[in-house]
Amino acid sequence: MAEMHGRVLIIAGSDSGGGAGIQADIKTVTALGGFAMTAITALTAQNTCGVFAVHETPLDMIEQQIDVVADDLGVDCVKTGMLATTAVIETVAARLDAKMSTSAVVVDPVMIAKGGHSLLAGDAVAAMRTTMIPRATVLTPNAPEAETLTGQTVKTVDDLRRVGTQLMALGPQAVLMKGGHLAGPQVTDVLVTQNGQHVFESPRIDTRHTHGTGCTTASAIAAGLAQGLSIEAAVARARKFVLAAIAAAPGYGSGHGPLNHAHTVTADC
Ligand SMILES: Nc1ncnc2c1ncn2[C@@H]1O[C@H](COP(=O)(O)OP(=O)(O)OP(=O)(O)O)[C@@H](O)[C@H]1O
Ligand SMILES: [Mg+2]
Repeated sequence: MAEMHGRVLIIAGSDSGGGAGIQADIKTVTALGGFAMTAITALTAQNTCGVFAVHETPLDMIEQQIDVVADDLGVDCVKTGMLATTAVIETVAARLDAKMSTSAVVVDPVMIAKGGHSLLAGDAVAAMRTTMIPRATVLTPNAPEAETLTGQTVKTVDDLRRVGTQLMALGPQAVLMKGGHLAGPQVTDVLVTQNGQHVFESPRIDTRHTHGTGCTTASAIAAGLAQGLSIEAAVARARKFVLAAIAAAPGYGSGHGPLNHAHTVTADC
């Protein structure tokens, strides 16, 4: 068994269905050999068909989860997912500055769950733009999120390139524009960094089992950064991990089913 390497603090919401959110994040970091820690921003009652209820964590409890982990175990990379409100964004940003100013940060600007439920208040988009995104090592918007953040249309690979460059002006070190929502037989993601653009392509798997692809991608990148990979290498490995996890999906649920995050894990002890 390989040694555990790379401490990732995941700041996100819980998905009781196990396919997305904190659960997908922990599974991903673990399956890639990292150590996952969590600050849970909200509980959701959720399955493959949708989000049925949300219970937000009090701000002081979010703050304390972050602080005690950072003070004791240490954090190589932070991954943020569902942040829900402006107040949560401001709380998390303050903790990043106070406790983890040298850690890498992957910001997944989660707005709407695959089933259509809103996970970020409309009035919190401005705080996402001005407060979270400038602190990102890698920002990972999907096409609708990139549209909301910029007011631009994102329908083609050219749009991914152009809008990704525009998002760099908000101050992240890199932007991974995810193309899962674009049409076509290939899935194209565009990584924009200060050194230029890198286009990643893979075959689109024709399946309804894509619950949590975004959370899984962002956490896999976070694990890579925590382990010392370059941004480009972390993104390349994350895409390979997600593709294999979609291909091996167990087929559970009647809606958007979960991935198989354990495809790297053997049951031999
Ligand atoms: N059907 C598919 N086949 C292959 N790769 C896919 C497929 N769907 C998504 N991906 C890949 O999964 C990653 C996540 O992209 P996507 O655009 O679906 O994110 P997302 O909308 O944030 O996901 P989520 O709804 O889980 O938050 C990307 O790297 C994308 O290329
Ligand atoms: Mg997403």
